[in-house]
Amino acid sequence: MHITQIDVMGVRNIANISLSPFKSANFIYGVNGSGKTSLLESIYLLSRGKSFRSRDIRTVINESLSECIVHARIDIRPETQMSIGLRRNVSGVLEAKKNGDRIKTSSELASLFPIQVIDSSSFNLIDGSPFHRRKFLDWGVFHVEPAYASVWNKHQKALKQRNHLLRYGTANKDELNVWNAELDKLNGLVTSYRERYISNLSDSLRESLSRYEQINGIQVQYEKGWSSDKNFIDVLQDSEVSDRKLGHTSHGAHKADLSITLDGVKVRDKFSRGQIKLLVYALQLAQGEIHKQNTGIACAYVLDDLPSELDEVNRELVLNHLFDLNCQFFVTGVDKLDFMSHLKEKTCKMFHMEQGFIKEIN
Ligand SMILES: Nc1ncnc2c1ncn2[C@@H]1O[C@H](COP(=O)(O)OP(=O)(O)OP(=O)(O)O)[C@@H](O)[C@H]1O
Ligand SMILES: [Mg+2]
Repeated sequence: MHITQIDVMGVRNIANISLSPFKSANFIYGVNGSGKTSLLESIYLLSRGKSFRSRDIRTVINESLSECIVHARIDIRPETQMSIGLRRNVSGVLEAKKNGDRIKTSSELASLFPIQVIDSSSFNLIDGSPFHRRKFLDWGVFHVEPAYASVWNKHQKALKQRNHLLRYGTANKDELNVWNAELDKLNGLVTSYRERYISNLSDSLRESLSRYEQINGIQVQYEKGWSSDKNFIDVLQDSEVSDRKLGHTSHGAHKADLSITLDGVKVRDKFSRGQIKLLVYALQLAQGEIHKQNTGIACAYVLDDLPSELDEVNRELVLNHLFDLNCQFFVTGVDKLDFMSHLKEKTCKMFHMEQGFIKEIN
């Protein structure tokens, strides 16, 4: 799956640009503040309806405009095309269309054009809170298990209900027991989807890690969010008193984590910044591989400032990995030379970004 044409209007300093990206590698270079990350944000916006940088859409829309628009033509596979159009205004209203028909939900939009982003905040996957690792995991499950979004939403609702009862409910045991049973069922489903995904991912991850000598041998294990030798329903019942004091459910899939270790030591306590960055690439590219194996579709990657923190050898390894995935990717960097030395015979497109305008370089 790849974008053949994209038009961006009103995203940060980009007033109005059009480009025809290459089906594989696209390099975008330009000085600080020229609009490189804004272009990646625009591509992401098309897939997710929101930014990967800011929660507040008003900061994404060009200061002198009241809305932003991104439109793209996408080849799903040879001879199957679609167009996606997206408009967001300063009040937050989102309007998205596929081939002219309205897209009703953000999960429908996200499923159309799967995209992965790696930027400076991606370090959180290794050294941030468990939330970031759950997000990584759920991206993968969501895109390979069509039923997961609905199970996840029901799980969130059951959790909310139980938390509400813990906070405001009377001591009525029956009502709490009803929600304990519902949460137990959904928690079990979320956990089994995630465990299946992790076991699916492990082969692809082994292959991915073997490309990078410095980080090879990493172990990734799912920690499901409660003591593994207990039934979840018993955990819910046993923790009722303490959960009432806390006002929320303290165990379960919503507290799950991934333990990422090398020789038994958490990598966040051991790895350098460059090694963490390599690991983020290895993990996310392994996810892309699994996605392709399961759906037959390669997701796209937007990779902000790939050259930073990586030495020449590792930069080359990452770029070769991306080329081998046969996916479309957009890479930004300040200096054109950071990419040129790695490209050799490879076919790609190079773009120069300058003050919100973009020019293809031959
Ligand atoms: N809402 C907005 N309206 C107009 N301009 C904005 C808005 N938000 C940010 N900008 C400006 O857009 C420009 C482009 O920002 P962007 O982050 O895309 O640059 P960049 O090329 O990625 O730079 P760097 O190399 O430093 O990462 C910056 O000058 C920024 O101040
Ligand atoms: Mg940037």
